[in-house]
Amino acid sequence: MKDLSAIILAAGEGKRMKSKKSKVLHKVCGKALVEWVYEAVQKAGIEKCILVVGHKAEEVMTYMGQKTQFALQKEQLGTGHAVMQAQHAIKDHEGHVIILNGDTPLIKGDTIKQVIEYHIKNDNAATVITTELDDATGYGRIVRDDSGNVIRIVEHRDANEQEKAIKEINSGMYCFAVKNLLDALSKINNSNSQKEYYLTDTIEILISENNRVGALKIEDSTELLGINNRIQLSEVEKVMQQRILSEHMENGVTIIDPGTTYIQADIEIKMDTIIYPGCILEGNTKIGEDCVIGPNSRIINSIVENNVEVQNSVIIDSYISENTRIGPFAYIRPESKIGKNVKIGDFVEIKKSVIGDNTKVSHLAYIGDAEVGKNVNMSCGSITVNYDGQKKYKTIIGDNSFVGCNVNLVAPVIVNKNAYIAAGSTITDEVPENSLAIARERQVVKDGWVKKKFRMENTD
Ligand code: UD1
Ligand code: CA
Repeated sequence: MKDLSAIILAAGEGKRMKSKKSKVLHKVCGKALVEWVYEAVQKAGIEKCILVVGHKAEEVMTYMGQKTQFALQKEQLGTGHAVMQAQHAIKDHEGHVIILNGDTPLIKGDTIKQVIEYHIKNDNAATVITTELDDATGYGRIVRDDSGNVIRIVEHRDANEQEKAIKEINSGMYCFAVKNLLDALSKINNSNSQKEYYLTDTIEILISENNRVGALKIEDSTELLGINNRIQLSEVEKVMQQRILSEHMENGVTIIDPGTTYIQADIEIKMDTIIYPGCILEGNTKIGEDCVIGPNSRIINSIVENNVEVQNSVIIDSYISENTRIGPFAYIRPESKIGKNVKIGDFVEIKKSVIGDNTKVSHLAYIGDAEVGKNVNMSCGSITVNYDGQKKYKTIIGDNSFVGCNVNLVAPVIVNKNAYIAAGSTITDEVPENSLAIARERQVVKDGWVKKKFRMENTD
């Protein structure tokens, strides 16, 4: 939208979080509070966004990077003072500015748009977003005259008994015509119970100078929920999680039990995939079509292609090609690339390895720092011995090879294609193509040894 900008206030300390971290960097469904607000601004089509930072400013600026402009509020002298720190960035603007708090992540882009439209249509100098709460404790109250016009906003701390009984509250979100905001900001003072410069005082100033001020009351107050402590953080998390799950279900994903499923923001899941209870999908994860995920699986920053089944397993920073079966009880560690139609079975750990198409690692194996070819069978108990206590080494296994049960492959080592390794071998040297390698003691049988040992010769 033209001539529109947004200011997000995020300089406050957030004492009640009891945290070493800035409040606005706490996460809901994997994304920082302030980033949710920023994204709502983006979705509303507002390109210019100024973030007012103060407490732990460096941390917030590093997290947000190049996305926004910043204004520094060195001392937190109130919401009005915070906006003053950003006014240089909008002072040449003809248009309007949306002001939002950095700790209200549930606000939607559509709602911001709706407020702007209402504000412009009514030709307002300022529009306040309000809602009604049964318990309005702590919030600023919207004081209206007998005809219902807004007169001013009074903070809870500064309100008299009659004003405290008002249920309509100030959400802390506003739309202002830039010139009216700048004019009113220059007139506020800090003569109130907190000795702060209140942004809310601009409302009374604008009204007293005969400007139009509107209040847009939003029925669903959840969008306006702010976070001041960890209990509210968990409540907002729940609402956001429900939104995310509903969106996936609307897109054709079956989620058997939304109550026990945790899917972070921005995860892609394609049609007809089924998510069983107890699954956690995090980070930059993408799941294809017709997959069956779970029960009880955790997938972080990984790509899972179509028609893959993952049962009771953990997959981190890895890539799984189509038609592959993982688990139950497999652990796929970072930088692994698993081919098509592969089976990674129970109690198998794969780390930083490539597994070729049609290969099977069916049970009880550790494959680390390895390149395993196509059509390979890694039998029960195959181990890559990749670490000598100081360094990690690579194991290479060619296509169509068969590694027997309980085999140690002491890296660095190469098993060339079409080779067989006898069960129980400890392989330390390269195995040529088409050969069989046996690296174990021959069996010795000592006839009658048991009877001799226990002097039982005369007992039969
Ligand atoms: C504010 C409003 C109140 C409203 C409530 C809604 C004022 C005076 N009061 O109160 O009417 O009902 O929000 O949640 O505006 N901040 C700064 N710098 C500061 C102070 C605050 O950047 O010096 C930021 C905070 O980080 C936060 C936002 O402004 O994101 C709101 O500040 P907060 O102290 O939470 O205001 P409230 O007392 O809740
Ligand atoms: Ca607050």
